[in-house]
Amino acid sequence: MQIREATIDDAKSIKNVHLQAFDKSESKLVSELAVNLLKENTHVKIISLVAIDNNQIVGHAAFSPVFYENTNEHLGYILAPLAVSPKFQKSNIGSSLVKYGLDIISNLGSFIVFVYGDPQYYSRFGFKTDLANNFIPPYTLQFPDGWHALKLSSAVLFEGGSIRCVDSLNDPKLW
Ligand SMILES: CC(C)(COP(=O)(O)OP(=O)(O)OC[C@H]1O[C@@H](n2cnc3c(N)ncnc32)[C@H](O)[C@@H]1OP(=O)(O)O)[C@@H](O)C(=O)NCCC(=O)NCCS
Repeated sequence: MQIREATIDDAKSIKNVHLQAFDKSESKLVSELAVNLLKENTHVKIISLVAIDNNQIVGHAAFSPVFYENTNEHLGYILAPLAVSPKFQKSNIGSSLVKYGLDIISNLGSFIVFVYGDPQYYSRFGFKTDLANNFIPPYTLQFPDGWHALKLSSAVLFEGGSIRCVDSLNDPKLW
């Protein structure tokens, strides 16, 4: 299995990974988000990663930048969405995508990474709710327990506040 940055040519395969991995109730919304993030141009680059097995895309993760709403300062990233094709799950691919993305971000600077998802899955990477709760997401969360954050640099103190995300994530249905 290899991981590389996604290109626009990967859009169809990425969409399929999410359509297969997510429950029908959310697969359309999430797969569209994955493709929108691939197409969106932002002044701070969106990191979109694919996992490849035998020349086939079997996993995808996107990390898009987030900013303090009041100052526009770039504070970190949000991991969304993340999926692995059902046949390839439980082989460490999801974890590898998360860790690969966190490594890229660590090398870019001192940032916080947010995620909105299953606490049991994300706690294994060190994501915590108490840190996340200092930051107000763009929309009211349907599942507040899913709001997590991970500080990639212990040296920096991040002030809490309201955060702004990229356009593709700026949809209350996603929160
Ligand atoms: C979540 C997901 C990306 C994990 O990918 P993966 O390649 O199977 O993950 P890994 O092999 O690295 O880790 C597997 C572990 O995660 C656990 N896991 C998988 N999905 C989980 C979930 N939604 N909640 C809690 N634990 C989960 C597995 O039980 C397994 O646990 P174990 O290590 O104790 O055996 C994949 O299951 C998936 O695509 N799910 C559907 C889409 C989704 O829910 N994405 C967002 C996650 S909140």
